[in-house]
Amino acid sequence: MSKKDFLSKLYLNTLEKGQVSWQSPSNIALVKYWGKYGEQLPKNTSISFTLSNCHTKTTLFYEPKTTEDYEFEVYLDGKREEGFEPKILKFFDRIEKFIRFLKDYRFRLETTNSFPHSSGIASSASGMSALALCLMEMELRLRSATFENELTKEFFNQKASFLARLGSGSACRSIEGPLIVWGELPEIPNSSNLYGTKYPFEVHPNFENYQDTILLVDKGEKQVSSTVGHNLMHEHPFAEERFAQANANMKKLIPVLKEGNLDAFIKIVESEALSLHAMMMTSMPYFILMKPNTLEIINRIWSFRKETGSKVCFTLDAGANVHVLYPESEKAQVYDFIKKELVAYCQNSQYICDQIGKGAKKL
Ligand code: PMV
Repeated sequence: MSKKDFLSKLYLNTLEKGQVSWQSPSNIALVKYWGKYGEQLPKNTSISFTLSNCHTKTTLFYEPKTTEDYEFEVYLDGKREEGFEPKILKFFDRIEKFIRFLKDYRFRLETTNSFPHSSGIASSASGMSALALCLMEMELRLRSATFENELTKEFFNQKASFLARLGSGSACRSIEGPLIVWGELPEIPNSSNLYGTKYPFEVHPNFENYQDTILLVDKGEKQVSSTVGHNLMHEHPFAEERFAQANANMKKLIPVLKEGNLDAFIKIVESEALSLHAMMMTSMPYFILMKPNTLEIINRIWSFRKETGSKVCFTLDAGANVHVLYPESEKAQVYDFIKKELVAYCQNSQYICDQIGKGAKKL
């Protein structure tokens, strides 16, 4: 598929006033995307677990109009959020040639997150993918009203992922589950820079219902947005090595996922998290998103693993929170450890229990 396959034609018909709703999950990268080019295209391949409990529900209310410009309002938990509107406007501008009906309707976007607002968990992946799916649902309705061929489910998901990517890169990995690849790599058939695809190879049962407990270490606003962080990779002294490392880690992960080799999995995943943060620490300007409690938690996970032989490990997003990853078979033991030893390092003792999920749902 290429970009032009996603271009939209002009629809002659108009939908009557109505609404569409989708629920879309967050995702956590195992091999990280950090650095982009062109219009939100990744410099390396990434792969993520789709989450389940951390999600956004979005309802898009639409009403036909005849004025020339975009008209929309955004509501979070029932309250108007004008602060989000510039981001949506930018998104609409970027996707206009792919969704040609955006100016034909007045929109009201109502959204709620299952995770606490300002928990430091980025809602951009779940939020942008939920909105992209709502727009695709409208496209589907417009097409069926004009008796055009039904969109295949595969194309629907690909285009939703393509659109979500233009809102927030990692959002393209939130449409389906349980493991999604984004970024072309010859070793992964059908992988694309334009949208996320399902990981195509065998995955060992060790990874079924893999657990992710998210420890909320710092719920404050990030000092550096991911947009700024990605851009700092342009002049970064280690950029090329980092992109090569990520692609190499992706290749190494293929036999690891097949064989269920959890020791090798831990090495790749933890090294990826620390490499991501190392890029932040060595960019110009440099910055640190980890907090003292992030390091405290990492050290305790390492000690616990050494003492017990557990296969628990950590990964990090662009923030101070820690994602604690472990197999379902260790659920009781690791949960006990988290409560006894790690929760003390969370802000207001807050954490979220999640696990690998299947992707977005129409509501
Ligand atoms: O989707 P963005 O532009 O917010 O970038 C997110 C990048 C990381 O979360 C740090 C890594 C990843 O691959 O999800």
